[in-house]
Amino acid sequence: MDYLKHFEQLVKEQLQRVEKMKEQADFIDYSELDTLIIGIVGGDGIGPSITDQAHRVLEFLLKDEVNAGKVEFRKIDGLTIENRAKVNQAIPDDVLEELKKCHVILKGPTTTPRKGDPWPNIESANVAMRKELDLFANVRPVKVPDLGIDWTFFRENTEGAYVLGSQGCSIDDDIAMDFKVITTQGAERIAKTAFDFAKKNNKKRVTVVTKANVVKTTDGKFLDICKQVSKDYPDIEMDDWYIDIMTAKLVDEKRRTQFEVFVLPNLYGDILTDEAAEFQGGVGTAGSANIGKRYAMFEAIHGSAPRMVQEGRDIYADPSSIIRAGAMLLSHIGYDDKADQLFEALEKCGQTEKKLIITGRDTGATSEEFANYIMETIKML
Ligand code: IPM
Ligand code: MG
Repeated sequence: MDYLKHFEQLVKEQLQRVEKMKEQADFIDYSELDTLIIGIVGGDGIGPSITDQAHRVLEFLLKDEVNAGKVEFRKIDGLTIENRAKVNQAIPDDVLEELKKCHVILKGPTTTPRKGDPWPNIESANVAMRKELDLFANVRPVKVPDLGIDWTFFRENTEGAYVLGSQGCSIDDDIAMDFKVITTQGAERIAKTAFDFAKKNNKKRVTVVTKANVVKTTDGKFLDICKQVSKDYPDIEMDDWYIDIMTAKLVDEKRRTQFEVFVLPNLYGDILTDEAAEFQGGVGTAGSANIGKRYAMFEAIHGSAPRMVQEGRDIYADPSSIIRAGAMLLSHIGYDDKADQLFEALEKCGQTEKKLIITGRDTGATSEEFANYIMETIKML
């Protein structure tokens, strides 16, 4: 590989990306649309099975809007590992085209190939979708009222260690290099989104997490930009932490309850949100919103559990996480009341009342039964 040429090409692409960000319009206003289109993407493994159930619950909650033509659901096929491997693309062109006709997307888990898998080592469909649809804010709430935990993470989702994660180079047999990118525009938009959220929700503090003492140029820039943005929010305190000590502070019972809103570059956000979700019952319980100015995508943050499918157990998979992602979707498109009903039903069915239990096998309820239970619960709220 001519690595100097390769590097030159990467720089060119990043410069172009910055120009695009500069021209970007503000957030889309869903209330101005005649018809809001919700794309439903099943994904791999247990994905289609649990996503179908989340789809049913959303159809149930949005029945009137669908009948009035204000909301349309569109099932989008083809984002499967078999299909992606066949065309050797993270997102096949025809699927991407369909996705771009939607406004928001509910997506089941997709298989991310790694070296040694029977699949070509293509880029993760998640990462590709975040890039293609410019979903720059990965918003991950973690709440454990009993422990006094109420955190919202704003993970930068389009740059950092991820943006060129599949484009590093082996200089020779001995040297491997990857690249990390932070831009003014990229850092600014995530910082603003986090501070705006804090302001709207009466939060007092935004915590920036980097490793700017060591990774000086990129993390240093991220931190600087956050400091600049914070000046526009005089009522909100900003504090800055390094990722290593932050992972420790999340298990410090006295300190952790003081954190409210976090903003952090991509990879640190990836790691810290898994740790955080563990307090709430694991990554399987969390939902995740990937938000951009034009598009937004909502997903479960667990994997596709191919073994459950091999053993014929996919009908017993827990749909809570993708249904929770559906609730986040409802709130994002302006149906806060319906979202609250769904959050409440999820809490009741999964935590307090528990008339049905999901065990992941035939000793427990099926995903379909659980979705029915959620809908029955909503009717009685
Ligand atoms: C996540 C996942 C993804 C990521 C993987 C599947 C590529 O871990 O959504 O946190 O690293 O972002
Ligand atoms: Mg992750």
